[in-house]
Amino acid sequence: MTANTIEHNRQRQQFVGVDSVWLFGYGSLIYKVDFPFLERRPASITGWTRRFWQGSHDHRGTVDAPGRVVTLVEQPGAECRGMAYRVSPSVFEHLDEREKNGYLRFTTTLTFDTNERAEGLVYIATRDNSAFLGPADDQSIARQIAGATGPSGPNREYLLRLAEALRALGDEDAHVFAIEKHLHRHLA
Ligand code: BEZ
Repeated sequence: MTANTIEHNRQRQQFVGVDSVWLFGYGSLIYKVDFPFLERRPASITGWTRRFWQGSHDHRGTVDAPGRVVTLVEQPGAECRGMAYRVSPSVFEHLDEREKNGYLRFTTTLTFDTNERAEGLVYIATRDNSAFLGPADDQSIARQIAGATGPSGPNREYLLRLAEALRALGDEDAHVFAIEKHLHRHLA
């Protein structure tokens, strides 16, 4: 099921008189940077953890064989590491279109590696969106990813590129790395 959020996002933040906005990326925004940015800094947010719980019917799968992509779920005390971009508000026109399947923009506090903080935005697909798939065991998620391909390419490529980008950021994401391990076993 698709869950088009373009109009909803357009109404959420108006950006009147704002020159630039911090955007926190924790998934494909870390490695697929198809938008202009003014500045880029590794950062993290607290209270959220990355999970392959969102269905992808439009990018990494199809309606008949949806893929799985990441969203954030609340977990007290958790830290999610990613990449922050300072962007012009006009960038959201492109990103709202790119991430239209269930993701809404939320305000969050970013912590940079220097411990400086800033307010920013993050796209999250919440449990109430119709493309939300929810939890499954790591092996089942890896199997679903191995069997899905969409207009943006194979779902496995999304997982492998994300895992590689997280390693480059020095992140230890047990969830992502466990699914990556199962994917390699499945493909062997
Ligand atoms: C992210 O990398 O932050 C992201 C990517 C796709 C959808 C939502 C968020």
